[in-house]
Amino acid sequence: MPGIFVTFEGGEACGKSTQIARLAKKLESMGQPVVLLREPGSTPAGEMIRQILLHSDPGINLRAKTELLLFAASRAQMVEEIALPALQAGKLVLADRFTDSTTVYQGFARGLDLKFLRQLEDFVCSGARPDLTFLLDLDLETMKKRQLRRVRPVDATDRMEQLPIEFHRRVREGYLQLAQEFPDRIRLINAARPEIEVEAEIWKEMNALLS
Ligand code: TMP
Repeated sequence: MPGIFVTFEGGEACGKSTQIARLAKKLESMGQPVVLLREPGSTPAGEMIRQILLHSDPGINLRAKTELLLFAASRAQMVEEIALPALQAGKLVLADRFTDSTTVYQGFARGLDLKFLRQLEDFVCSGARPDLTFLLDLDLETMKKRQLRRVRPVDATDRMEQLPIEFHRRVREGYLQLAQEFPDRIRLINAARPEIEVEAEIWKEMNALLS
């Protein structure tokens, strides 16, 4: 595909959204427009699905399979509506999470079958594949500290964020395993450092990719 597809991954409070916003601003100020995506979400249907996945009452007790299919549904809509047309038109697409999140959260951490997840990924993504992935790795202690500092409105608590620490440990380990499996695509970045250092490292890699 003529475009460039860059994804950002990591556990809770790793600073992905901040880093994407900074990178997008820098690229745009240099005359390089970007298409920004977030998952779940990005399309009107995807944003509705996001509400169910992240902000619904825990009492509705979403099952792991239901959760998987909702993440996949949001992605299918986003890929067809935005990502594929943008990549086919040669644009630079930056995504806050993509398929690695499903592999790690629903596969490694929830325990759903990884082989099936790969088949589902092929079905949903229709050939959209990241060229480069920044994995913002954060130790669990720093993650907890950042979460405690974060101020959220009462009605915006995040269902996934509230899962037990063991879940988040499996998420982190899953990501580190993926980084070993795909060293050519995934750049492992220590996200416990000051934002400005993380930003500089991302910028160096982006420059290398764009040139
Ligand atoms: P975020 O927008 O703050 O990153 O929140 C998204 C949450 O959804 C986060 O806890 C990771 C989770 N998630 C999955 O479990 N599977 C997925 O496929 C995606 C895209 C996100």
